[in-house]
Amino acid sequence: MPLHILDHPLAAHIMTHLRDATTKPATFRTLAYQISLLLAIEATRDLPTEAKKIETPLEPMMGRVLPPEPLVVVPILRAGLGMVQPFLDTFPDVSVGYLGLERDHETAVARNYYCKLPPLEGRRVFLVDPMLATGGSAAQAITLAKSKGAVQPRLICIVASPEGVAEVEKQHPGTRVHVAALDRGLNAKKYILPGLGDFGDRLYGT
Ligand code: PRP
Ligand code: URA
Repeated sequence: MPLHILDHPLAAHIMTHLRDATTKPATFRTLAYQISLLLAIEATRDLPTEAKKIETPLEPMMGRVLPPEPLVVVPILRAGLGMVQPFLDTFPDVSVGYLGLERDHETAVARNYYCKLPPLEGRRVFLVDPMLATGGSAAQAITLAKSKGAVQPRLICIVASPEGVAEVEKQHPGTRVHVAALDRGLNAKKYILPGLGDFGDRLYGT
């Protein structure tokens, strides 16, 4: 599977503070923004560009710009909302779709409760969800995105477990996955270790 792990001193610094149990929600949200921005830049490294003729104040030149088709970013509610803003701030044209998935606290199986997606045919689709634990939510999100026309949607997560990565690869072979950290594994309640706890709770102070 094409698994891309962020390798940057700044990413390591941000991740340490994000994981720290003493980090409060306001700082947690800022750190989530910062790591998501690094991930967004990395995951779009191979976007095509097209030539554009411009005039600098001194002379004409050929520059390069992003193509007109907007990217689509799809946060998996609710924790994925903490990863959307960097896309909105950075890319001039971006559409946002929403997928609501919630894990059952006992079984850790995700239930789909909301789906509002823009047209996905022919668009570059980025699914964002901070935690890839069992992989059930991500695999379900990829299935839904593909059923609405996405071809090879990419998955961007902050922390992944080996089990989650393997599940996505099993259900959707070849999916490109970008993560800031690949952790050790899951505990009995299917939380990532060492992880950072419940991302949604820490993001929203619940
Ligand atoms: C978390 C997380 C993922 C999912 C990962 O969401 O944001 O969506 O769990 O677990 P999995 O890989 O085992 O499916 P949660 O269901 O807790 O909902 P929330 O975002 O509303 O807090
Ligand atoms: N969801 C989270 O928020 N954290 C985990 O470790 C696993 C699932």
